[in-house]
Amino acid sequence: MLVDTHAHLQWGSFDKDRKGVINRARKVDVKCIVNIGFDIKGSIEAIELAERHKGLYATVGIHPHNASQFNENILDKLRKLSENPKVIAIGEIGLDYYRNLSSRKAQKEAFEAQLLLAEELDLPVVIHDREAHKDTLETLSKFKRKIRGIMHCFSGSKEMAEQCAKSGFYISFAGPVTFPNARKLHEIAKKIDANKILLETDSPWLAPQDMRGERNEPAFLIFIAKKIAELRRISMSGLAEATTENAKNAFQLS
Ligand code: NI
Repeated sequence: MLVDTHAHLQWGSFDKDRKGVINRARKVDVKCIVNIGFDIKGSIEAIELAERHKGLYATVGIHPHNASQFNENILDKLRKLSENPKVIAIGEIGLDYYRNLSSRKAQKEAFEAQLLLAEELDLPVVIHDREAHKDTLETLSKFKRKIRGIMHCFSGSKEMAEQCAKSGFYISFAGPVTFPNARKLHEIAKKIDANKILLETDSPWLAPQDMRGERNEPAFLIFIAKKIAELRRISMSGLAEATTENAKNAFQLS
């Protein structure tokens, strides 16, 4: 069994065949899918999906792209939504200095407020960090060990991966690890502690090499799993077992 720890099946591009997408994933043993919130509407829709389908879970949070909408009222809404038993983390939250769709100031404020919320609720966090490695680490370091969670679609250095793993974070690999020229990521996937690896698709984005240009979906997680098993010279079943155990620990699933 495999766990897709990061997908957005609430996205409009799945409106026509969402059920088929979930069934295709189950057929290749991707039996657990965590749908990640990015704004209030996306968080509510992730919860609704989780309530309708076995093996689906949800996170709630405001993505750095949407940080300019963030305020106290939204924070209260997230707190309320997180009471739902299907909600297993706060996310995705963080910093994106690549697209800068919200000001850096707004991004930092939303990030810190949601880290505080995760701390208050004792929930793990799903971190989005794009070209903001230094500020992401700096913000997290303010919270010391009380914050735990996942570095989603990890894109930092080997040193950063080790530092995150040491402070209790999981390193999650998405489609880019399957790209032939992603040497830095290959190196990290080879060397990082086996008990810190997670797999994700980030559907509908970031399709793996064999499906590049297509809409991504959780069934394609097997391409990512295959690549990492190959890099680490272990069997697919060994990798599946380890990463499923890691996902259970990361999200405290039974
Ligand atoms: Ni995402």
